[in-house]
Amino acid sequence: MPVVEIKKDIYWVGVVDWNIHDFHGYSRSPQGTTYNAYLVMDDKITLFDSVPAPFQMDLYHQIRSLIPLEKIDYIVCNHIEPDHAGAMPFLMDKTKPEKVFCSKMGHRALLDHFHQPDWPYHPVQSGDSISLGKRTVHFMETRMLHWPDSMFSYLAEDKLLISNDAFGQNIASSQRFDDEVDLPMLMDLSSHYYHNIVLPYSNRVTAVLNDVAKLGLEIDMIAPDHGLIWRSHVDTILKAYRDYAEQRPHNKAVIVYDTMWQSTEKMAKAIAEGVMEEGVAVKIMHLKEYHHSDVMGELATATGIICGSPTHNNGIMPLVANFLTYMQGLRPLGRVGAAFGSFGWSGEGVNTISDWLKTAKVEVVEPGVKVKNVPNHEKLAECKELGRQVAKAIKAKIEAAQ
Ligand SMILES: Cc1cc2nc3c(=O)[nH]c(=O)nc-3n(C[C@H](O)[C@H](O)[C@H](O)COP(=O)(O)O)c2cc1C
Ligand SMILES: [Fe+2]
Ligand SMILES: [Fe+2]
Repeated sequence: MPVVEIKKDIYWVGVVDWNIHDFHGYSRSPQGTTYNAYLVMDDKITLFDSVPAPFQMDLYHQIRSLIPLEKIDYIVCNHIEPDHAGAMPFLMDKTKPEKVFCSKMGHRALLDHFHQPDWPYHPVQSGDSISLGKRTVHFMETRMLHWPDSMFSYLAEDKLLISNDAFGQNIASSQRFDDEVDLPMLMDLSSHYYHNIVLPYSNRVTAVLNDVAKLGLEIDMIAPDHGLIWRSHVDTILKAYRDYAEQRPHNKAVIVYDTMWQSTEKMAKAIAEGVMEEGVAVKIMHLKEYHHSDVMGELATATGIICGSPTHNNGIMPLVANFLTYMQGLRPLGRVGAAFGSFGWSGEGVNTISDWLKTAKVEVVEPGVKVKNVPNHEKLAECKELGRQVAKAIKAKIEAAQ
């Protein structure tokens, strides 16, 4: 990908990872991703962020198309996760910069990752700024958005916010800007990214957005470290982050399940009918067909989470346990749910799921539905009724929020 001048003397020098479908081992990224890095040509030539170690030569050629690497004076490391700092040892060797700026937590984390006490660290904190010559960089720590070391860099004269992982999307594209692609598609990717990475830190998101508003920062471009740069829809993405963080109720339920012999699947379909009868939207997702991160993407706009598994060796199916662990870690708020499943003799599955949902702070409609072996007409009617009850609970939440 050729470098792109995104503002006068500010270049995107990142790398497109066209073929990656597995993002950091926990989320799907069917459209690939990008690792964005930005080179500012000022009196002090400054590189903001970098790329994973396996892409270090791609970054080298990007920068080299503009300047020899040894011309770089400063490196700003907004986040030390290896997708943005993996190339640091290589870069330090090639550039021998005068200064490396990072947050205090970033300083510790760089030491933990690379064990190089002699790099010229300059830890900064919120409120600190540095001059590059014609422009000033203001730093803003964004702890736990989404790691302890995360920070933003704001280039005041350029009205440019380099936001690291925040506002990112996983997309490999020849385009660099939000207005060059379909906006609803980009917002879907943004939501998928948020609900798989940022969601547990939603209260931090709201606090950071409030801080940005309080500081009255003029922002006409947000340059994240993944995906496209926001220049025409800055307000849209800021508003979307407020909405994601708020987690207002939505008129939809997601039904997730696994099954061996389809009894639990029959139950899922009957539950869905009950949900629909109450005028609530529903999405059925078999966990062998849908990745847990895609379920979280769907749950972004759903208040109901109805989860099913046959009893398997006195417990639940591994994919259901996998999903529940994943969802619990992402801490979605304000959800209602229920459990269901078929069993052969002991039937622990439904209670196991109920307990798990409760641990994840989901309000559970009890007792759920257990079916011995294959559901008959009456049992399917019970499933429908469970769907209706969950739908009613969703509607009550929506009403309460109005
Ligand atoms: C390997 C295996 C282990 C099972 N373990 C249990 C169990 O511990 N307790 C139980 O009640 N049923 C158990 N069952 C029976 C299933 O729960 C039962 O067949 C159920 O109807 C399957 O639902 P499904 O059609 O949705 O797969 C087991 C079945 C298999 C194949
Ligand atoms: Fe990260
Ligand atoms: Fe990242």
